[in-house]
Amino acid sequence: MKKSVFQITGIVLVALLNFNFCHAQKKTIDQRVDSVLKLMTLDEKIGQLNQYNDDWNATGPVTLDSTKKQQVLKGQVGSLLNCVGTRRTRAWQQIAMQSRLKIPLLFGQDIIHGYKTTFPIPLAEACSWDMDAIQLSARTAATEASAAGINWTFAPMVDIARDPRWGRVMEGAGEDPYLGSAIASARVKGFQGNKLGDINSLMACAKHFAAYGAAIGGRDYNAVDMSDRLLWEVYLPPFKAALDAGAATFMNSFNDLNGVPATGNKYLQRDILKGKWNFKGFVVSDWGSVGEMINHGNVANEYEAALSAITAGSDMDMESRCYKNNLAQLVKDKKVPVALIDDAVKRILLKKFELGLFDDPYKFCNTAREEAALNNPAHTQLAREMAAKSIVLLKNEKNILPLSKNTKTIAFIGPLVKAVKQNKGFWDVEVPGVDSNFIVSQWEGLQNKIAAVTTLLYAKGCEIEGDDKSGFAEAVEAAKKSDVVILSMGERRDMSGEAKSRSNINIPGVQEDLLKELLATGKPVVVLINAGRPLVFNYTADHAPAILYTWWLGSEAGNAIADVLFGDYNPSAKLPISFPYSVGQIPIYYSHFNTGRPATNDSNRNYNSSYNDLSVFPRYEFGYGLSYTSFQYSNLQLSKKKINSHEQIAVTCAITNTGNYAGEETVQLYIRDKVGSIVRPVKELKDFKKIKLAAGETKTVSFLINKEKLSFYNEQLQWVAEPGDFELMIGASSRDIRWKSAFELVK
Ligand code: NOJ
Repeated sequence: MKKSVFQITGIVLVALLNFNFCHAQKKTIDQRVDSVLKLMTLDEKIGQLNQYNDDWNATGPVTLDSTKKQQVLKGQVGSLLNCVGTRRTRAWQQIAMQSRLKIPLLFGQDIIHGYKTTFPIPLAEACSWDMDAIQLSARTAATEASAAGINWTFAPMVDIARDPRWGRVMEGAGEDPYLGSAIASARVKGFQGNKLGDINSLMACAKHFAAYGAAIGGRDYNAVDMSDRLLWEVYLPPFKAALDAGAATFMNSFNDLNGVPATGNKYLQRDILKGKWNFKGFVVSDWGSVGEMINHGNVANEYEAALSAITAGSDMDMESRCYKNNLAQLVKDKKVPVALIDDAVKRILLKKFELGLFDDPYKFCNTAREEAALNNPAHTQLAREMAAKSIVLLKNEKNILPLSKNTKTIAFIGPLVKAVKQNKGFWDVEVPGVDSNFIVSQWEGLQNKIAAVTTLLYAKGCEIEGDDKSGFAEAVEAAKKSDVVILSMGERRDMSGEAKSRSNINIPGVQEDLLKELLATGKPVVVLINAGRPLVFNYTADHAPAILYTWWLGSEAGNAIADVLFGDYNPSAKLPISFPYSVGQIPIYYSHFNTGRPATNDSNRNYNSSYNDLSVFPRYEFGYGLSYTSFQYSNLQLSKKKINSHEQIAVTCAITNTGNYAGEETVQLYIRDKVGSIVRPVKELKDFKKIKLAAGETKTVSFLINKEKLSFYNEQLQWVAEPGDFELMIGASSRDIRWKSAFELVK
C-alpha cells in the first residue's frame, strides 16, 4: 500500500520524538523542550496554550463544546481542569496519545485545602501560625491528588485580604505580608514536595497575580486601585515568597490594577514576574479572564484581548478560547511574533518534562495507588490535628472551657450541629465515587468523645438563615435539662468563597436571638462559630461566656472540635486577620499609619482620627487568641542597642506557662520605624515563634534583627533600611504587647 506524504511525515515525526524521548538522559530538559518545539506546527503550539474545563465539574461559567475530544486528538489542547480521578485522566490522556506529537495533557484542579481528606479552609489553617503543619497539610493534599491523576493545583492563593466582605478571604492567609509570605512558602513546598517529577508532587500555582484581594468594597472581581507602595510592600511579598519557594506556575487575576486588567498587565507579568524576578515557570490566566478584558473595556474584541494577554505574558488561556481563535491570525498579521508564542509553549513543555509526563504520560494514573492514597488513616489523623490547631479560643470567662469529662448532661444546639457537608467549607473537591459519609459531623465528634456518664441532648433551634423561631422552645427545654449548652452557629459553607461577597457580615438569621434565649436559662453557654470569614457578632462577644471560632474545619471537624472542647487539645490558634465591630470599620488592619491626629483610645475622639460612633480598634485584633493556660513574658534582652547595617541584634525573651495546662504560645515580634523618609506603619510583624510549654515550664525564645527586617520601599521604591531609631515590641498579639524596647540603626 502506498503511503501519502503526510503519513510518511507522521511516521518520521513520531520516530524523531521517540528518539528524543529515549535519549532523554543524554539531553538537558531544555534541549528536549527545544527538540519538541522544532517539530510543532503553529496550530499545535497554540494548542499548548489552550486549557479547557472537563465536563465533570465546573468552577466558572461553562462554554459548551462538544468538539473537545477532537481538539485533543489534533493536539489543540495543552491542559484540562476539573478532570479528577485516574480513570478519567487516563481516558483523556489516551486521547492525547493519539495526537500527532503525543504531547501529554496537564491536569489542573483547585486543590485548596485537601482532596478527599479535607483540611480546614486556608484562613483557618493560617490561624495555627504553624508552618510545618501547614506544609504537611498541603503535602497530604498533594499525595492524594497526585494519586488521583492530578498534576497541578491552582493553589496557594496568596492574596492579602483586609476586607472580610470579600468572599475569598477564606482562601488566603489573612491581612499581613510577613505571615502571608511564610504561609505562601510553606504551602508551595508542601504541594511540590522535594521536586517536581516525584510521584506525589503537584505543581503549585501562586494566585491571583496581583492585588485581587483588594477588590473595591470587598466585591469579588471588582476593580483595584492602589499605590505602587502598597502593591510592593503588602500585596507582592507573598508572591515573591511563593516564587522563592519554587512555585512552578502563577495565575493572573480577574481585577484590573489601576486601569490595566491583570491578565493584560505587562508591568505585572513581564516586567516584575518574568523580568525582575526571573520566573521560569508559566502563567495561566484565570477562568475566561482573557476574553473578559472586553468587558473591562480596554480591548474591543477577542482578537485584541488575545494580543494584549500574550504580549503581557499570560502563557495559558483558561477557558476563554481567545488564544485558540485568534493567535494564528495575530501571527499572520505580524502583531504577535512566533517567538512570543514559542516562549509560552516552552515554559509549558518544560513543566510537562519536569513532571515526567513525557517519559510516562500515565505516571499519575495508577488506580491501585489512588485507592490506597484515598484511604490512608494517617491522613485522617493529620486532618484532625490540623483542625484542632486552627480553632481560635476568643473568650473563656471563668474558665468554663475545657469541659469536664464528667459533665452529666450537655445540650448541643444549633443549625450546624448535625450538618455534615457544611464542615468542608468552600473549595472542596467532589471526588468521584466518594460520598460525604467520611466527614465527621460535630454531633458525631461529640458522641465519639463523651464518657458513658454523659447524656447528649440535641435541638436544632433554628436554621442558619431566615426568621423562623419555632424551634426555640425545644432548644430552651434541652438547655434547661443540661449542665452546659454548646451552641453551634455561623454561616453556610457557600456564603464565603468565590463570588460570595456579602455586604452584611453579621451572624445570619435569628441565631444570635437563639443565643439570647439560651443564655436566659442561666446555663453556661459555649458558642462555636462556623464561618469562612471574620463575622460580626457583638451580642455573642459581649454576652456568651465562651467562644470558639471554628471556621470550616474539614473532614475531621467534629473530632477536632470535641478534642478542643474537652481539653485533649489546648487551643493555640491566633487570628491572622482583624475582626471588625462593624462593616463600617472595614478595611481595618493592625499595620496602619499613625496619621497626623492619631486616636490612641476611644475616649478622646475630638479632632482625632476616629469614628464618632464606633471604636477605632477591632473587636479582635490580628494575632489574638487565647489558651486554656496563661503565659508570662519576662526578661526581654537585646544583645545590642545600636547596630550598623552589617550587624544584627539578638533578641531574647523568657516565656513561662503560668497556668495548669500544657500549651503553645505564638510569640510575636513587631517593629516600628520611628522616623522614616516616608510614613511607616505603627507596627509591622517581623518574626514569630510558636513554642510548646508544659505547665510551669519556662523557655527562652530568640529572634534576630538585621537590616532586611528594617527595610522598606522608599519614595523611589528602592528597598532600603534608613538609619534611625526603631521601637521593638514583643507581644501575644498585635495589641497585647508585653515588652517594648528600642534600638538604633547607624550608618
Ligand atoms: C476562578 C478562580 O478565580 C480561580 O482561583 C480558580 O483557580 C479558577 N476559577 C479555576 O477553578
